[in-house]
Amino acid sequence: MIRSAFDAAAIRDAVEVLAAGGLVAMPTETVYGLAADACSGEAVARIYAAKGRPRFNPLIAHVADLAAAEKLAMFDPLSRRLAEAFWPGPLTLVLSKRSDTGLSDLATAGLDTVAVRVPAHPAAQALLRAFEGPLAAPSANRSGHVSPTTAAHVEADLGDVVPIILDAGPSAVGVESTILCIVDGTVHLLRAGGLAREAIEALAGRPVIIAGLDDPEAPVAPGQLASHYAPSAPVRLDVADVRPGEALIAFGLRLPHGAEEAVAIINLSPRGDLVEAAAGLFAALRQLDGKASAIAVSPIPNEGLGEAIRDRLARAAAPRPED
Ligand code: TXA
Ligand code: MG
Repeated sequence: MIRSAFDAAAIRDAVEVLAAGGLVAMPTETVYGLAADACSGEAVARIYAAKGRPRFNPLIAHVADLAAAEKLAMFDPLSRRLAEAFWPGPLTLVLSKRSDTGLSDLATAGLDTVAVRVPAHPAAQALLRAFEGPLAAPSANRSGHVSPTTAAHVEADLGDVVPIILDAGPSAVGVESTILCIVDGTVHLLRAGGLAREAIEALAGRPVIIAGLDDPEAPVAPGQLASHYAPSAPVRLDVADVRPGEALIAFGLRLPHGAEEAVAIINLSPRGDLVEAAAGLFAALRQLDGKASAIAVSPIPNEGLGEAIRDRLARAAAPRPED
């Protein structure tokens, strides 16, 4: 059932569901999450079952603040500086796990690292503070689907298996958190996301290395399957021309040739603002899916949040796994 995230009774009921090992859909500033008690294997198993995840990817542990994060993980000096600068917010840090955390091995997929995030959204903060423990929360969509940025998206995918969907309106950021792992002072980008690389580099005073590009030994995020965020219609990137039967996702005022023939057009940001474009991306993919033979996408600059937008679109465009 969809309930207002700003209703104190709804938060109380959500905490009761979580304490009993159940699932709650939680708004965050990035996307809606499917939350469960990160310390209960049974509760975490329900997440995988609900999403239909093909395998047990490690999940992000969400906590209310840095002090709660320090109970789960060890912070090297640079990770602590990043946390102090960007938490609460759309940043996830992969850190060495402490031994006595109580976290379920299913939540961390048995790794000796843990991904931790302090969300900024007031509803997520209210839920975490009322629950008084870490919440494991992947995006609240069925596996392989586009991440949800509204309560209605969650209901469409998971309405039959989630008893409470906390509604706080559209997610402000619209793409998932940026995931970093610091190894010996080097900043590895495991997933481009809602915190732009330029902001991280400015704070860290060093370049951010894109995981897996040059160094096969570099840390990676196991959940970054090539095809992900996939609408059922094929997606074509960086188009100069719109083909007959295609829908168009546009960016900026210059439209590709043939745009007037598109079966539908959604402009992510006519004024060319990448932050506005990220916020509307997943809703646009959902809205156009099923309306066209394919989705054509205008060129989007590879800077700021454009990096995360292009990453998600490239995954949507990637060949689908057979299963
Ligand atoms: O914005 C977000 O991060 C959203 C909201 C709900 O907070 N959550 C989210 O979770 O995107 P999920 O489960 O869809 O993505 C988590 C990613 C996966 O790619 C997973 O492989 C990676 O984090 N991850 C988790 N633990 C890790 C670890 N110990 N080492 C490396 N990667 C890890
Ligand atoms: Mg996801």
